[in-house]
Amino acid sequence: MATAATLKPGVEVRAKKLLINNEWTDSVSGKTFPTINPATGEEICRVAEADAADVDKAVRAARAAFEKGAWRKMSASQRGLLLYRLADLLEKHADELARLEALDNGKPYFIASVADLPLTIACYRYYAGWADKTEGKTIPVNGNYFSYTKHEPVGVCAQIIPWNFPLLMQAWKLGPALAAGCTVVLKPAEQTPLTALRVGELILEAGFPPGVVNLLPGYGPTAGAALARHMDVDKVAFTGSTEVGHLIMKASAESNLKRVTLELGGKSPNIVFADADMDEAIEGSHQALFFNQGQCCCAGSRLFVEEKCYDEFVEKSVARAKKRTVGDPFDKNTEQGPQVDSDQFDKIMGYIEAGKQDKASLRTGGKRVGDKGYFIEPTIFADVKDDMKIAREEIFGPVMSILKFKDMDEVVERANKTMYGLAAAVWTRDITKAHAIADSVRAGTVWVNCFDVFDAGAPFGGFKQSGLGRELGEYGLANYTEVKTVTVKL
Ligand code: NAI
Ligand code: MG
Repeated sequence: MATAATLKPGVEVRAKKLLINNEWTDSVSGKTFPTINPATGEEICRVAEADAADVDKAVRAARAAFEKGAWRKMSASQRGLLLYRLADLLEKHADELARLEALDNGKPYFIASVADLPLTIACYRYYAGWADKTEGKTIPVNGNYFSYTKHEPVGVCAQIIPWNFPLLMQAWKLGPALAAGCTVVLKPAEQTPLTALRVGELILEAGFPPGVVNLLPGYGPTAGAALARHMDVDKVAFTGSTEVGHLIMKASAESNLKRVTLELGGKSPNIVFADADMDEAIEGSHQALFFNQGQCCCAGSRLFVEEKCYDEFVEKSVARAKKRTVGDPFDKNTEQGPQVDSDQFDKIMGYIEAGKQDKASLRTGGKRVGDKGYFIEPTIFADVKDDMKIAREEIFGPVMSILKFKDMDEVVERANKTMYGLAAAVWTRDITKAHAIADSVRAGTVWVNCFDVFDAGAPFGGFKQSGLGRELGEYGLANYTEVKTVTVKL
C-alpha cells in the first residue's frame, strides 16, 4: 500500500434523492440503498431507491417536457448554450467532482482530476457545439417535387450507465441526447450514484427546463428493467455487461421496439511486434490493462507478444507491475485504487484462481492487498493459451494475460476469435504491419502505438457482441435522431 501523505476526501455529499421534473424527491416506496466507499467497505450514505413507480413518474415528466413546454420550443442554439453552461459549472466544481468520484468509485483522485473530469467537460462542450449544426439534406427526387430531410430528436430516452466512469458515461449519454433535443431518464449504477446526482444539481443551476433530465438512482433488475420495458420510452442507451445488453434488447422487442444502442464488454487484443519501441510498448500495454483498476470495457486484456521478444517483454512487464502503487485513492502517489465492490472483487479473484488451475504461469500478484476494501495486487499471467478461461472471458480487473505469437496471419486469426469486437491495438515501427492489423481486426476502435486515446469527436463502440451503434462524434449524435423525409408537390 502506498504510504505518503494522504489527502482527505474533503467533500460533502448533498444530493441523495431522485431528480424528477426538476425536483428532488424521495422514491414512491420510501426505500433507500447504501453506497459504499470501496477503499474501506464502509457506507458513505444512503440514496433514494427508484423502482417501477418512480420510472413511471419520471417518464411522464420527460414525455411532457418533450411534447410541450420550454424545451420543445427552445431554439437549437439555446439548447447548445445550456450545455455550455453545464460544462462551465462542471469546470467550476471539477475538484469537488473528482473527490466525489474517487470516494464513490475508488479510482485515484489524481486520475479523476486529470482524466475523467477534463474528458467529461470536453464531451459536453463538443455536443453543445453540435446542437445547432445537425442538418438534413435536399434530395433531387423524380417528378415535380421538393424533398428534404430533417433530423428530429428520437424522443424520451432511457439511459442506463455503469460504475467504471460514472461522470464520463453520464456525459457520453446526456451530451448527444440533449444536443439532439431529446429528454432523458438516466439511471446511474447502484455502486456509484453520487456524482450523477451532483451533476443533477448543476443541471438545475444551468437552467434546463423541468422534465428534460430526470435522474433515478436504483438497481438494474428493478429500475433499470422498468425503463427498458417501458411503453412510453422511445430509445434506450445502455453501457454495461453483454449479459444485460441481451436483456435490454429483449425488453425492447417485447415492449415497443424502442431504439437500442449498447456499449458492452470486450476482450481486446493488444498486439506487440518485436520491431516496436519496447519501452513504449511495455508502458503502453501496462496502462492498457491496469488503467482504472482494469475496469475498462476496452482494456487490452489479450496481450499478444511476438515470440522473438516474448521473454524480455514478460520480464519487463512484471517489473513494471511490481512497481505499480496500490492504495488509498486520496494518496498522491497511488496509481491503483480498490475494485468497485465486493462482487467485482470476488469475480476477479475467481478468474485468478481459474488462471492458476488452467496452468497459466502466474508471474506476479494474485492476492488481495490489505484487509479492508477491495484492493487486488497487479497480476500477470504468462504462457496464457487462447482456450483458457482468462483469455476468453472479460475479467474487468488488474489481471494481465500475455500470449505468444509467431506471425501476422496467425495473430490476426487469433485476435478475431472472440465474440467481442470493441477495441484493438498494435505496437510496431512498421507502417505496413500497423495498417494491416488496423484493416483486419474486427473491432470498433484500433489504436496504433497508443491506447485509450479518447476524444469526444472520435466514435467509439463495438463490432459483434461488444455492442450496437456508436457513441461520441457525429455517429453518436445520429443515434439520438430520427430522420424525417418531407416531400412537397410543386
Ligand atoms: P451490469 O451490466 O449488471 O450493470 C450496468 C448497469 O446496468 C447498471 O446501471 C445496472 O444497474 C444496470 N442493470 C443491471 N441489470 C439490469 C437489467 N436487468 N435491466 C436494466 N438495467 C440493468 O454490470 P455489473 O453487474 O455492474 O458488472 C458485471 C460485468 O459487466 C463486469 O464485471 C464487466 O465485465 C461488465 N461491465 C462492463 C462495462 C462496460 O463499460 N462495458 C461496465 C460495467 C460492467
Ligand atoms: Mg449486474
